[in-house]
Amino acid sequence: MAENKIYRASTTAPVNIAVIKYWGKRDPHLNLPTNSSLSVTLSQSDLRTHTTASCSPTYPPAEGDTLLLNSHPQSLSTPRSLACLTSLRSLRRSLESANPSLPPLSSYPLHIISTNNFPTAAGLASSAAGFAALVRAIADLYTLPQSPEELSLIARQGSGSACRSLLGGYVAWDAGHKGDGSDSRARLVAPRSHWPEMRAMILVASAMKKDVSSTSGMQATVATSSLFRTRAEVVVPREMAAMEKAIEGRDFEGFGKIAMRESNSFHACCLDTEPPIRYLNDVSWAAMQLVQGVNEKVGRVVAAYTFDAGPNCVVYFLEGDRREVVGCLAGCLKEGLVERVEGGVELEDGLEGAKEVLRRGVSNVIMTGVGEGPVSVEDHLIDEKGEEVQKNGV
Ligand code: DP6
Repeated sequence: MAENKIYRASTTAPVNIAVIKYWGKRDPHLNLPTNSSLSVTLSQSDLRTHTTASCSPTYPPAEGDTLLLNSHPQSLSTPRSLACLTSLRSLRRSLESANPSLPPLSSYPLHIISTNNFPTAAGLASSAAGFAALVRAIADLYTLPQSPEELSLIARQGSGSACRSLLGGYVAWDAGHKGDGSDSRARLVAPRSHWPEMRAMILVASAMKKDVSSTSGMQATVATSSLFRTRAEVVVPREMAAMEKAIEGRDFEGFGKIAMRESNSFHACCLDTEPPIRYLNDVSWAAMQLVQGVNEKVGRVVAAYTFDAGPNCVVYFLEGDRREVVGCLAGCLKEGLVERVEGGVELEDGLEGAKEVLRRGVSNVIMTGVGEGPVSVEDHLIDEKGEEVQKNGV
């Protein structure tokens, strides 16, 4: 039979925002971290990468594997992408050797199309959702039997934080001890259903590509920061254990305190790097002050800030405290960015300056919450003929 079929599989994958941060590699080649980390997977209704992986004997071999990300061609021959594709092809090859009636998909070129519904490289963990979607879509295309945890070993090689986006809910990435990285993978701490009330309000202070990439920033920190060693060896193991307990007990007070301390510890190590790395700006500091202000006024921790390698503030809170948290923070933002909620606490007068900085500096707000892991979808971005499906908007 002349084979001219286009094989396709599509998936959507979520963003995750860490509350125990991954920062530092013990092996840059295998992308192994110096410390474990833990994140909350965010809902795909608001932030997601949608990816279609396809392969066919009709795709010209000379073109090799191709990727279109938000309609722009991207290389798949970077060491990170190659590591993912090589691992996935080799798993497919084992299936094909065990069952010769299977079509030899591992030998066909791959054409991949991916779209994000949020700005790429805006400090919004786009690489995490991107590599998680890429790995999940190809694994589905190849009908691989591997579990999400097993696939996380592959996604980790694309981008460390991507390994956590293969699972929903509350997810750890255990640093592991083995030299070959076979124990450095994602682990479910609790599913979304365990604590579904978790919400995240993302205050976008900049949608620009970050100045210092996570990869080069963390390498510089490992090489030069003396604070970093204590963080990796003492601080994170202690916080990690406490955070897992807080999640298990649905203890927001504990969760919030640890998340804020952790974010501060990570950014302190950035400042302790030579030359210093600064991801937080005045808007970030204003957000920190206002979150602190809300907590003080309410008399308990109802809101927790965390920042990745960029100035955008992610505020975690529980649905039950929406009135206090959103009611108050929304009042500090430009009109129209977020639906007003009545009854937020009145902040102390001393915070007028911070309110003004937030009002001027926050350009967009994304309201979301804890969500599920990648989902297989029938909505393909590549048609039966192997052509890109033209869509209006995202
Ligand atoms: C600050 O996963 O982007 O967001 O492995 O080099 O691709 P690479 O790094 P990446 O780093 C994310 C760092 C962080 C913290 C976190 O998500 O845990």
